[in-house]
Amino acid sequence: MSEEFDRTFWEERYRSHTTNHHGRPNPQLIAETGELVPGTALDAGCGEGADAIWLASRGWRVTAVDIATTALRRAQEHAETLGGEIASRIDWVAADLTSWTPPDAHFDLVSTHYAHPATSPDVLFRRLAAAVAPGGTLLVVGHHPSDHISHGAGPEVHFTAEEIAASLDPDRWDILVAEARSRSVTDHGGREITIRDAVLRGRRRP
Ligand SMILES: C[S@@+](CC[C@H](N)C(=O)[O-])C[C@H]1O[C@@H](n2cnc3c(N)ncnc32)[C@H](O)[C@@H]1O
Repeated sequence: MSEEFDRTFWEERYRSHTTNHHGRPNPQLIAETGELVPGTALDAGCGEGADAIWLASRGWRVTAVDIATTALRRAQEHAETLGGEIASRIDWVAADLTSWTPPDAHFDLVSTHYAHPATSPDVLFRRLAAAVAPGGTLLVVGHHPSDHISHGAGPEVHFTAEEIAASLDPDRWDILVAEARSRSVTDHGGREITIRDAVLRGRRRP
């Protein structure tokens, strides 16, 4: 597994530039959670906070975790510009997801988008799955192997939704979505490019 995705890497990345979604939430998050009744949510690897802020604006009480304090500071500042009600619904947590243990069976929604951990994705996703409350939702979005964009990294950041689904206990999980989806984004150079997401949505049985 790559050694480059440690805290230093992510801090340096955020110090040198911002991400390219301009504060917009991930479309897979909107599509997969827009109909859910708001409760407690964990955003694992929240970056500059667009997804956590969107969830809070919908009434979710969010725990947003990231290893990069530069990203968390920007996220918190962004949330505060949107008013106290949204900002007060988000707890920003600086932690390493490879060692930070979320409370067991606690969250109504656990969502993670392109977390790129410096560990096996399977290990991280199993730990995140354990944090989902009975009846709750796990949403994992990542770079599909057929995505030809390198994302500045090797093949270890790519996975299929089916691989994640296979790592979940079939006695405990219903898999509602496990597929690859293409979408257009604007890259750092301002060009429109097509990327391919792996999207896994599971529901933990009550
Ligand atoms: C590619 S960015 C995605 C950020 C955000 N989820 C998004 O979709 O825009 C990956 C994020 O995961 C965070 N991250 C990577 N490894 C982590 C770890 N071990 N613990 C906590 N956060 C981590 C990085 O700091 C970064 O913010």
